Amino acid sequence: MKYTVCREDELKHGEMKEVTVNKKPIVVIRSSSGDVYALRNVCPHKGPALSKGSLDGTCTATEPGEYTLEKAGEILKCPWHSWEFDIKTGCSLFDPENVKVMTYNVTIESGHITLEV
Ligand code: FES
Repeated sequence: MKYTVCREDELKHGEMKEVTVNKKPIVVIRSSSGDVYALRNVCPHKGPALSKGSLDGTCTATEPGEYTLEKAGEILKCPWHSWEFDIKTGCSLFDPENVKVMTYNVTIESGHITLEV
């Protein structure tokens, strides 16, 4: 079922918004590139709201001392122990197959952000 959660212009690039839909805590995120994503707003480790964490990128290394910042603004970091999740997939960076956060389909309809929950 689809639910409108806010106007599109209420969520700026790089911002997060907490919403509750059908008693489900959800964080809606607009990435730095402008795309909008929605994830369950509960860390699968110990349960704090991921929306209290930060949006950042991640570093990869091709060889010692050579680092590249990737996915800038697309990694959601838990406020308690810094587990990191890709906002596009909900997958953790350290164990993407087994540790994930549920994601929800997002559409923009008539200037409003709509979630499929
Ligand atoms: S509670 Fe989120 S990483 Fe520990």
